[in-house]
Amino acid sequence: MTHQDELKQLVGQEAVKFIENNTIVGLGTGSTVKFMVDALGQRVKDEHLSIVGVPTSERTRKQANSLGIPTKGIDEVDHIDLTIDGADEVDQNFQGIKGGGGAHLWEKIVAINSHKNMWIVDESKMVDQLGAFPLPLEVIPYGSQQLFKRLENRGYKPEFRMKDGKYVTTDSNNHIIDLHLGRIEHPNELALELDQLTGVVEHGLFLNLVNTVIVGREDGPEVLHA
Ligand code: A5P
Repeated sequence: MTHQDELKQLVGQEAVKFIENNTIVGLGTGSTVKFMVDALGQRVKDEHLSIVGVPTSERTRKQANSLGIPTKGIDEVDHIDLTIDGADEVDQNFQGIKGGGGAHLWEKIVAINSHKNMWIVDESKMVDQLGAFPLPLEVIPYGSQQLFKRLENRGYKPEFRMKDGKYVTTDSNNHIIDLHLGRIEHPNELALELDQLTGVVEHGLFLNLVNTVIVGREDGPEVLHA
């Protein structure tokens, strides 16, 4: 395991301490969340913790079920108490970029339906300004080449996300376009603009959603509250 993985594992283990018995828990996606789901599976086994997970991807659902964590779909629950997810960048105001793993559409739907949201990150994700990490857009395949040109004309340096020469497809069968912005001076204005672009299903700017961030630091996990 790399040192970064150790930090991710520690924050994952710290995060599950916040999960209470008889609650509904949103389960994020990504390599950090994977450690958290492992730790949650251990608690379910050791303490007979009774929880229901609402996964934000097929990947997470499969992992959770394989560990004996029961799951339900977002439309099968009436509320979510707490969602724990990873992030690609987080600034001092707890604004972030997500979607490096291509799951930000489901992640945002789960997040906005959660009473509380927590992010777990290693310290490399903490930034002064958002934008060095490419901003993901989930886009409808139909007309996406035209959308790409519009994004290019706005100077957003778009790039289709590809794997093995094929378009990456999301759990909703859409494509991903990453915007190489460098820095995002005004996240709220950009979010509004992207919200209004036809063909964009969801962007990876997560603004004003998170209450708690656990940062994996060299001297141990640091819990930050908004
Ligand atoms: C998935 O689409 C993402 O939003 C992830 O939550 C985010 O990319 C963090 O992933 P890692 O924990 O793998 O860095």
